[in-house]
Amino acid sequence: MCGIIGYSGPLEARNILLDGLAGLEYRGYDSAGIALCMEDSSICLAKKVGKVKTLRDYCDSSIRGTAHSGIGHTRWATHGGVTDANAHPHRAGKVTLIHNGIIENYHALTEQFKLQDKLISQTDSEVAAWALDALYDGDPLKAIRALKNQLEGSYSFCILFDDQPGSVYAIRSVSPLVAAYTHAGAMVASDLTALIPYTNQYFVVPENRIVKLTSYKIHVYDLDDAFTKEYPEILTVNWNMDAAMKNGFPHFMMKEIHEQPEAMKNTILPRMNKGLPDFCDDHIPDDLFTGCSQIHIVACGTAMHAGMVARAVMEPILRIPVTVSIASEFRYEEPLINDKTLVIIISQSGETIDTLAALRLAHDYGSRTLAVVNVKGSTIARESDYVLYTHAGPEIAVASTKAYSVQLAALYMVGCRMALVRGVFTEKQATDFLTDLLDAIPAMETMIAQEDTIKQVITHIIQSPDAFFIGRGLDYAFSLEGALKLKEISYIHSEAYAAGELKHGTIALISDQVPVIAIATQQHVFAKTISNIREVKARGAFIILLTKESAVVDDTLADIQIHIPDVDDRFTVFPIVVVLQLIAYYASLGKNLDVDQPRNLAKSVTVE
Ligand code: M6R
Repeated sequence: MCGIIGYSGPLEARNILLDGLAGLEYRGYDSAGIALCMEDSSICLAKKVGKVKTLRDYCDSSIRGTAHSGIGHTRWATHGGVTDANAHPHRAGKVTLIHNGIIENYHALTEQFKLQDKLISQTDSEVAAWALDALYDGDPLKAIRALKNQLEGSYSFCILFDDQPGSVYAIRSVSPLVAAYTHAGAMVASDLTALIPYTNQYFVVPENRIVKLTSYKIHVYDLDDAFTKEYPEILTVNWNMDAAMKNGFPHFMMKEIHEQPEAMKNTILPRMNKGLPDFCDDHIPDDLFTGCSQIHIVACGTAMHAGMVARAVMEPILRIPVTVSIASEFRYEEPLINDKTLVIIISQSGETIDTLAALRLAHDYGSRTLAVVNVKGSTIARESDYVLYTHAGPEIAVASTKAYSVQLAALYMVGCRMALVRGVFTEKQATDFLTDLLDAIPAMETMIAQEDTIKQVITHIIQSPDAFFIGRGLDYAFSLEGALKLKEISYIHSEAYAAGELKHGTIALISDQVPVIAIATQQHVFAKTISNIREVKARGAFIILLTKESAVVDDTLADIQIHIPDVDDRFTVFPIVVVLQLIAYYASLGKNLDVDQPRNLAKSVTVE
């Protein structure tokens, strides 16, 4: 949800900002804008509806002169439509400001500061800019502190003051912000993707601190006006520019599908010790697993679907209740959790606002928390009791692929360790379980190698406005992810149903040639799923069956069959999800859509 960047240094600020915005674009791409502090100290503003490329072309044709500091924004609209006026930066008197987040009390601030006649956009962000201008008397730190006391909501801001040329100020509350002093100058941004071309060392801007970028230094101030005594911890990024580039693939999504086997190995192997799962290096104690009587998994979207798969695998092994909640619902419930509940939070970005709120609620109830997170140093990683990092590298495509697989790899390892330390698994059973997990990796590679075959099914899917995914048990959990993937990047209405539930209403939607992607990999419900497939086949559905190589099915059952290798039932998700991802990818491509940046979406959901 919006990417922001600030820069002060010896280089041409325009290029740094535009390049940085290109790296942040996946966070939001409705409009983009920059503000430059020019050599004569004037502020030059450029903002345009559309992607960073449109802004770059506009800047090339309209901006003359040099600037060595400035701020830039790429927007995912929340308040007000997608217009040039609503694009950031916003000018307000002596203030120029960009914002990521939501100011919840912007109506009250509009009244309080009498801004009705000043506002030219419909955004909450412009209200914050004018409020800051009203509070500004020549002392930026004092004004920002005063503004912070007035604001409700989440935000990260970068700010220029007309009479402070060369300085960029930034502050955050909840919304992410990282900073680095590099050979190219001082930078602050929503995400490392903007900084990584210049450095692999950075720090997370702490909440309740103000940072000031100048061409020679980053100053960090406590809110009480003193220089901070303790400089934030400097972190090192464990991936490089290559990881954030397409590297010859046509889209990030395709590259990230291909990266899954490697990402799985990176997540699993460092945590294996003599064939057993071992979280010593993650500093996760076994009493986290032995001291609980139930598990509650909370996440959003694809991460929540990973939680549903993990639940279906863990509960029968551990024989304790494992519940999965959608974070945006959980956070407003009165959940039945307590100090005997292990709450597992799953988030690729580690910044999803609902998931973060769920984590905080879990702490309020006294539960111990374990976060499965991909982004090092993210808010969820920092606030959870324990963190298990997945090692997928940056995931840039909005549609999550490799993050899902590695979340599952991590959760399977958690399930295995819990079973071992709770005495449910013998060492032999735990080793066999991990061997099966590792065997799933070549099975994924097999399916990636079949991308051309999988591509063939797309003609049948993209001709239809609807598609259905059906399965039972674990296959139903996979179906949910298949349907989400397809709808978010191909815009085909797609629904996932537990196969046995169809006849209770949804089967009314099945008619001639409606594509049904049927998943049947679970032996104990295989015959039942096949019967359900026959029911939709009898009503004219076009059946694409995903099943194991060894499955025996009548040739007349499905119009197309795709076979995955014969891995143990609990591990079929890994090859199956590759097929589901490829179906969605080629459907999007077949409809000539923007695979990596689908409409209305953004990668990191930092608003409710
Ligand atoms: O960063 P998170 O894992 O917390 O994101 C949660 C969802 O927004 C995310 O999984 C989303 O559903 C996917 N991008 C869909 O492909």
